Amino acid sequence: MTTIVVAMGEKNEIGFENKLLWHLPKDLKHFKDITSGHPVIMGRKTYESIGKPLPNRTNIVISRKKNWFEEGVLIVGSVKEAVKFAKKIDENIFIIGGGNIYEQTVDIVDRLEVTLVKADLEADTYFPKINLNTWKKTEEVFHEKDEKNQYDFYFQTFERIKSE
Ligand SMILES: NC(=O)c1ccc[n+]([C@@H]2O[C@H](COP(=O)([O-])OP(=O)(O)OC[C@H]3O[C@@H](n4cnc5c(N)ncnc54)[C@H](OP(=O)(O)O)[C@@H]3O)[C@@H](O)[C@H]2O)c1
Repeated sequence: MTTIVVAMGEKNEIGFENKLLWHLPKDLKHFKDITSGHPVIMGRKTYESIGKPLPNRTNIVISRKKNWFEEGVLIVGSVKEAVKFAKKIDENIFIIGGGNIYEQTVDIVDRLEVTLVKADLEADTYFPKINLNTWKKTEEVFHEKDEKNQYDFYFQTFERIKSE
């Protein structure tokens, strides 16, 4: 199973100036719970935004740069290579962004784990539109904002019903 994990706002916004748009500790815990123990694939910009390898997961970073080296991460030159290496490690693999990598992988993954944040924020990076002819929402759990989590949000799971 290949899964995209993404947190997006009401207009599919996911980032601004190489940062996330919100601070939602419950979502960070959810992300950790879903991905821990499995390989995670990300674009070079997302890796730089996180700034260090995510613990307890093989971190696979996609870049076209030659001679770019980072301790503790596997660097590959294409999406195809990233998926090939990840699948050698585990059957369940996760694609964790950013916008550029989501665009190139949304048509090949089996499942979307979406955090839909009830906010409309300025952004420069977006998730592609989720086509409901292709995807069926199979789960949805609402979380109300509280003193630590600044917006209401939903955890949603989408399963592919049709290949693109
Ligand atoms: N809300 C969320 O769930 C979420 C999740 C992740 C990220 N984000 C946000 O998304 C933003 C970053 O996304 P982004 O779209 O700017 O960048 P990105 O997708 O993280 O990374 C893009 C980089 O990946 C490499 N790349 C992409 N396609 C490639 C290919 N086919 N072959 C080889 N290398 C390839 C290139 O790296 P080189 O330039 O090194 O060649 C490219 O510059 C940030 O704001 C981040 O905070 C949000």
